[in-house]
Amino acid sequence: MTRKKVTVVGAGFVGSTAAQRIVEKQLADVVLIDIVEGLPQGKALDMMQSAAVEGFDTHIVGTNDYKDTANSDVVVVTAGIARKPGMSRDDLLNTNAGIVGGVVEEIAKYSPNAILIVVSNPLDVMTHLAWRRSGFDAKRVFGMAGVLDSARYAFFISEALNCSIKDVRAMVLGGHGDTMVPVPHFTTVNGVTLTELLPADKIEAINDRTRNGGAEIVKHLKTGSAYYAPSASAVAMVEAVLLGSNRLLPVCALTSGEYGISDLYCGVPAIVGAAGVEKIIEVNLSPSDLAALQASANAVKELVEVLKITV
Ligand code: APR
Repeated sequence: MTRKKVTVVGAGFVGSTAAQRIVEKQLADVVLIDIVEGLPQGKALDMMQSAAVEGFDTHIVGTNDYKDTANSDVVVVTAGIARKPGMSRDDLLNTNAGIVGGVVEEIAKYSPNAILIVVSNPLDVMTHLAWRRSGFDAKRVFGMAGVLDSARYAFFISEALNCSIKDVRAMVLGGHGDTMVPVPHFTTVNGVTLTELLPADKIEAINDRTRNGGAEIVKHLKTGSAYYAPSASAVAMVEAVLLGSNRLLPVCALTSGEYGISDLYCGVPAIVGAAGVEKIIEVNLSPSDLAALQASANAVKELVEVLKITV
């Protein structure tokens, strides 16, 4: 059996950590590509030299040449600059649009059948751009944000309740920015709704910390942004595709009328499996959560319009 092939674009903090998780989990062979010469080659060689200790048979190679990425099954795009203290994800817009646009054209040329998972920020707009530039069916282009935001939400809830994180199922929808929408009614501890377990003011404080979860880390790090949880979240999506596991995840996917949002990439619940986004799930949100989701979509739309990406 030939192993699946995953390309990770960007050998920085998020990309190299994602690559490490993929080979250590033996999900696929990995090609790590970056614009900086030597960086992906050095990191890939270092990871291969950990194989004897960690006990994995999967392979990783580093390269600066897109030819080596040919016929990838899945491509994770992390190329771009990360934010510094005081910057919002939106401040990265023009720089990362140039980088992501160029990367996606190369990827589409060599891996026309791949599934693209975008991680670069500002996430929703970069995913929209990747879809347009790739020319791929929208099912095969989606972004990682909701899994990360939900993971942060779950952690804060497990801390507040002093309960195992394994029992927490959290859901955050909307754009990956200040307007994201934690949904307490879709958040449970082993089936028990969060609203049964914590008072409203405590939930609101956790929602707020979740919305600022990335910024809190940027403030600590000062020279870059989070990468352990972002890489773990991206790899969870890679795994759902490679294993065809049809997981229900919050995904930055192209909407076509769901939740009153059309032709826009935004965080919605969806089934992720072998074909990518198999189906967006539309459920009844409370009027205030629905309004918050639509406001979040509008914020994404404004950025899409700044970039003049036509739908
Ligand atoms: N092609 C390939 N790689 C590129 C290109 C390009 N055109 N331009 C930049 N890169 C590479 C950089 O050389 C660097 O190695 O992208 C990598 C980015 O890595 P970091 O600066 O460490 O940033 P990281 O923390 O990994 O974040 C990457 O993910 O979470 C988002 O907001 C974050 O947009 C940022 C991205």
